Parts: sequence; C-alpha cells; structure tokens
Amino acid sequence: RNFLQILGRTTLITILGGTGAFYYVTQRERHPGAQMPFDPEKKTLVVLGSGWGATSLLKTLDTADYNVVVISPKNYFLFTPLLPSVAVGTLNPRSIIQPTRYVTRHKKRAVSVIEAEASDIDPINKTITFADNSEIKGQVSTTTIPYDYLVYAVGAEVQTFNIPGVKENACFMKELADAENMQRRFMDCVETAAFPGQAIEEIDRLLHMVVVGGGPTGVELSGELHDFLEDDLKSWYPELAGKIRITLVEALPSVLPSFSKQLISYTVSTFKESKIDILTKTMVKEVKEKSVILQMPDKSIQEMPCGMVVWAAGNKGRKLTQDLMAKLPTTQTNRRGLVVDDYLRMQGAQDSIFAIGDCTATSYAPTAQVASQQGAYLARVLGHLAKKDNLKNKLHQLESNIDEVKEEEKKAAVAEIESVRNQLAKIKLRPFHYSHQGSLAYIGSEKAIADLPFMNGNIASGGVATFLFWRSAYLSTLFSLRNRTLVGTDWVKVKLFGRDVSRE
Ligand code: FAD
Ligand code: NAI
Repeated sequence: RNFLQILGRTTLITILGGTGAFYYVTQRERHPGAQMPFDPEKKTLVVLGSGWGATSLLKTLDTADYNVVVISPKNYFLFTPLLPSVAVGTLNPRSIIQPTRYVTRHKKRAVSVIEAEASDIDPINKTITFADNSEIKGQVSTTTIPYDYLVYAVGAEVQTFNIPGVKENACFMKELADAENMQRRFMDCVETAAFPGQAIEEIDRLLHMVVVGGGPTGVELSGELHDFLEDDLKSWYPELAGKIRITLVEALPSVLPSFSKQLISYTVSTFKESKIDILTKTMVKEVKEKSVILQMPDKSIQEMPCGMVVWAAGNKGRKLTQDLMAKLPTTQTNRRGLVVDDYLRMQGAQDSIFAIGDCTATSYAPTAQVASQQGAYLARVLGHLAKKDNLKNKLHQLESNIDEVKEEEKKAAVAEIESVRNQLAKIKLRPFHYSHQGSLAYIGSEKAIADLPFMNGNIASGGVATFLFWRSAYLSTLFSLRNRTLVGTDWVKVKLFGRDVSRE
C-alpha cells in the first residue's frame, strides 16, 4: 500500500510539475518583455527573408549589436519539411508556421519586421528598395532604406523550365498556399468524379494524380497522398477510392538521386506495394488542363490523362537574385546562384552583403539543414564584426586623443591602445563548416528512409520505429514549443478522427 501511495504521489507531482512548467514556458513565449530601442550609434543590419536561413540567424543573433530590420513578403516562418502533410490534411496549415514576430519580440533590442518584397538592391550605395505587395496598401507602399550589412536569404522559386502549361495547370509544393491549393484541387477531382452520370474514362482521368519530380518533395508527397487514400478516402468514398491512381514521373534513371542505392530500392519497392507507379527516364514536356505530355524512355511522345498535376521538379534563383548578380558581373558569374566566400560574404559586394541558403551557389545541397546552419554561423560572425567595429572605434578615439593626453598619463594611454590592438588581432573569423546530420524522408505507409552519417552510413527501415523516429526528429526540429504542440495535437487528432475530406 505504501509503495502504491508513493507511486501515486510521485505521478501526481510529475504531472503537476510538467503542467506547471509547460504553462510557464507558453506564457513566457506569449508575453515578451520590453526591448531596447534602436540606437543611432549602431549599424543597420537588414535581413531579407523569413525562411530557414533568416529565422535561424534571428534566433542566434544578439540584436543588442545592431539595429535589425527584417523584410519579407511573408510575416512568418514556414516549416517546409511538413508541407506535404498539410497538402493531404494531416496537419493544419497554421501548425507549421511561426510568425516572425514570435522570434523577434523576444530579442534584446527591438527588431523592425516589415511585410514587403524587396524589389531592388544597390550594392554600391548600400540601399534596398521594397514594396508592400499585399492586397491592402496604405498611402506609402514602396520605399528605399540604407543598410550597413545585408543578409540575403530570399531562397529560391519553382523551376518550370518554361515548359508549356506548368504555370497555368499544375499545382506547386513550395509555399503554404500551394499545399492548401493542392488539397482543394484534389478533393475537387474526387467530388467531380462522384458526380452522377460521369463516364468511366472521365472518372479514371479525374482520379489520376500525377506528381512530377522524383526528388524528396515528389516522393514524400506521393507517400502522403497514398496514406490519405488508404486511411480515409477508402472509408468515405468506397466506390471511388479503388480507382484513385498516383503516378510519379522522373526524368532521371532513378528517383531520389541524392540518396543511397539501398534506400532508393527500398523506396521503389515500398511504392510498388503501395501501388504508386514510378515512371523513370520520362520527361514531362507539357502540362495540359486534363493531361500531361510525356517523353518516354524510347523518346516517343505520349499523352497521359489526369485530374491533377503536382509540379515538384526543383527550384531556380529568384529574379531579384539574378538582378543583383547582374550588378556585379565580374564576380557573380555562377548561374546557380550567388557566389559567396567561406565566410558567406557575397563576392564583389564590399564585405557588406552576406548570402545564405537556397539563393547561393555552394558545394552544399539546397536544404533547410544547410540554410539553418549558415544562419546560425552568420549570427556569430555578425557578433564578431560588431565587437570588431566597437574596438576599431575605441582605437580610433584613443589614437586621435593621444596628443592631448598629459605626459604622466601617456604611458597608460599607449598601453591601452596596445591592449585594444591585441584584442582586435585576436578576433579571427572561422570559415563556415557544414556538419551533415543526415537525410530523412517519409515515403508513406508509416515508413521512412534515413541516410545517416553514423551507423555505417545509412539505415533503411520501415514500421513503427522509423515512423516514430521521423516524427520525433521533425518535432524536435520545429522552432517553438507552440508549433511542437500544434503538430503533435494534429497527429493525435488524425489518429482519432482521420483526415478531413471537406473541400474549403
Ligand atoms: P526559404 O526558407 O525558402 O526562405 C526564403 C524567404 O525569403 C521566405 O521567407 C520568402 O518569403 C522570402 N522572400 C522571397 N522573396 C523575397 C523578396 N523579394 N524580398 C524579401 N524576402 C523574400 N530541406 C531539408 O533539409 N529537409 C527537409 O525535409 C526538407 N523538406 C522540404 C519539403 C518541401 C515541400 C520543400 C519545398 C522544401 C524542403 N526542404 C527540405 C528544402 C528547404 O525548405 C530549403 O532548402 C530551405 O527552405 C532554404 O532556406 P532559405 O532560407 O534559403 O529559403
Ligand atoms: P529536386 O531538384 O531534388 O528534384 C526535382 C526532380 O525533378 C529531379 O530529380 C529532376 O530530375 C526532376 N525533373 C525536373 N524536370 C522534370 C521534368 N520535366 N519531368 C520529369 N522530371 C523532372 O527538387 P525537390 O525534391 O523539390 O527538392 C529540393 C531541395 O529540397 C533538395 O535539395 C532536397 O534535398 C530538399 N528536400 C529535402 C527533403 C528531405 O530531406 N526529406 C524533402 C524535400 C526537399
């Protein structure tokens, strides 16, 4: 009895303690305190973007060092790895975004967050022009501001290769709105197929979903679509669910070219079991309203009827990036993106522009992992630069005052100058070093693949353990307790009630 009493008491204390701690952290996140105002003595640091690179930078940066201005057309951070889950309704769209102010309001010095799109950068005069491109505009909707340092983290945009019909007829999987749009379109296809009197061929067409691009985005999305079909549509559309087909089209000889052979064959066999067709060495040449035109491995051209096309065929640099590169034609010559040095300084931009993430052309893959490590690194570099600037100012002041210093105080003043010089010499910037933590992808049917830099290279496994590992890895990577709670709750909700099949 004693043992049970102690166990009961310990459990109660743990639950109460855990709830109290959870409540305390949520309230601390909800109610940020007062911040230091902008200081005219400090340099202006403009951050372009609110994605992986920019948000990681803002999290690590000591804003006491600068007057920080963040400019982004989205006033939030989007956790892209879980975007395919939003597209099939496993997650609520709002669960995977975090307003940028939830980060900046917790910083020491106030940060100005501006919802606007940068339209021009002048790397010579160090100015940036931006515009409010949202629906509602005030009297002023475009302006230009100066910067001392610019962190360029605008990411990339969808690559369509100018293939006819892609922009007009395909859905994308890059932004939050893309996932919401795809969900609406998918359910529209299903409901249209259920319309009375629909011919069999038309039902087959409407229920054929084509995913273009066998990279991680296309593979994960196909897996999620399959889960939606198996877990939910079979219950609510029993007469149609068996007719839904998913085809993944990839131009290269294999899907997931960046993963190991073992993991590729694991994915291919899982897709076979899931009845997801993979067409490799097949290139989409045109996307029509009701079909895709394919160039088959034997170079013949075929038309494949379908209800929905999701374009996940990779990314390219934004126009803003191309325009910026054109302003520095001698150094910015890489068509893949901005050329930066080992310290992430944009080449040719007088040490005042840093670039991180998908907008750069480096030896690293364009991933969230790289962008966030670069952001955190750059925050430390900017901390060092601020320290250096302060010491330089101090040195300048000491050196210019030395002639006015009284003879008896001269020795001390010279020693101080020497000490400042020594401190300055000690500040050495270390180059950026990327530490690969492995790649993880969800492939549907509660299976995930993991390419990890330990345990002899890679792990290919399915079942509950890998699935839980995938989920816990993403939960821990989410930036805030709020997002972790929202995503965790969505997963429980879907387990209990299934995904919502209503079309908004
Ligand atoms: P982004 O995160 O794209 O941020 C760019 C920011 O710039 C955005 O806030 C945007 O609004 C803003 N911006 C755009 N134009 C302007 C402008 N003119 N002025 C100012 N701001 C502007 N990577 C992984 O490592 N693991 C994964 O599991 C993974 N899953 C993914 C799943 C999907 C569906 C997608 C699409 C990508 C995934 N990625 C993943 C890749 C990862 O999302 C990118 O590599 C990462 O977002 C790059 O970070 P970034 O900061 O360079 O750009
Ligand atoms: P991607 O560039 O990796 O893959 C696009 C694929 O589309 C390529 O394999 C290409 O051959 C194919 N393709 C292009 N044009 C085509 C056409 N006309 N017809 C048929 N196929 C065509 O793009 P993705 O998957 O969006 O990934 C972008 C980046 O984000 C990558 O660096 C990736 O590693 C990262 N990412 C990582 C994830 C993870 O680790 N779980 C998940 C999603 C993205």
